[in-house]
Amino acid sequence: MKRPPAQDSIYAQPLEAISQFVFDESVAQVFQDMVRRSVPGYNTLLSMLPVIMQQYAQPGTNCYDLGSSLGASTLAMRHGAKDMNVHIIGVDNSPAMIEKSRQNIAADTASAPVDLICGDIQQLDIENASVVVMNFTLQFIPLEQRLDLLEKIYQGLKPGGAFVLSEKILLENNKQQEWMTQLHHGFKKANGYSELEISQKRSALENVLLAETREDHHQRLQQAGFNKIIDWYQCFNFVSILAVK
Ligand SMILES: C[S@@+](CC[C@H](N)C(=O)[O-])C[C@H]1O[C@@H](n2cnc3c(N)ncnc32)[C@H](O)[C@@H]1O
Repeated sequence: MKRPPAQDSIYAQPLEAISQFVFDESVAQVFQDMVRRSVPGYNTLLSMLPVIMQQYAQPGTNCYDLGSSLGASTLAMRHGAKDMNVHIIGVDNSPAMIEKSRQNIAADTASAPVDLICGDIQQLDIENASVVVMNFTLQFIPLEQRLDLLEKIYQGLKPGGAFVLSEKILLENNKQQEWMTQLHHGFKKANGYSELEISQKRSALENVLLAETREDHHQRLQQAGFNKIIDWYQCFNFVSILAVK
């Protein structure tokens, strides 16, 4: 029988010093619970990846999941790739995440081949790609290195290929920013996180998760070469963008 995911209580007790957030073993252990209770719209977003795969995956190509964590997006892509003759590649630089995602992929019965790579997405060769998914990972890449990564993705995509970029965003206007932050915190509280947990996690993510505005993302995608760009999904201050080459 499948065990329920371990509950995230990493920030439940008062901490004397809050260290910077890292995707280590303790986070990997509870990540399935953490991401679902923290990212509004996460399940819906994942449930649309098979639809995107059906539209954009091309036979004989590679489909990448960059920042694959426990393999949730990788598996959603795999389920959209039935009989499509594509190769799915999940990449994450956290050994603990890769180790656990290996078990998750092994327990899954879909047939599309999946390779998992433990490494830095910035050092990765992206080639012969028809779909590239980067869910909530660009936000952890240093700002000045983001354009190079997007250019590499654009270069690695075949014409007609799709890039799905999901991010926590900043709203341009302060009032809207405050408004969406309140709703996001309301979402976390509704999922059982306390005020202490919310504020300690926020401190841990400061200077680690660097969110940008929707306009910043669109501009950078254009600079990288994409000219078909649309926000296909938004839940509070979490947005997913589809860019087609
Ligand atoms: C918020 S999680 C991504 C969630 C995941 N995409 C999903 O759909 O469940 C960010 C992941 O990116 C990974 N990561 C951050 N920087 C990375 C880098 N430079 N190279 C590879 N992986 C990276 C982290 O280890 C972490 O697992």
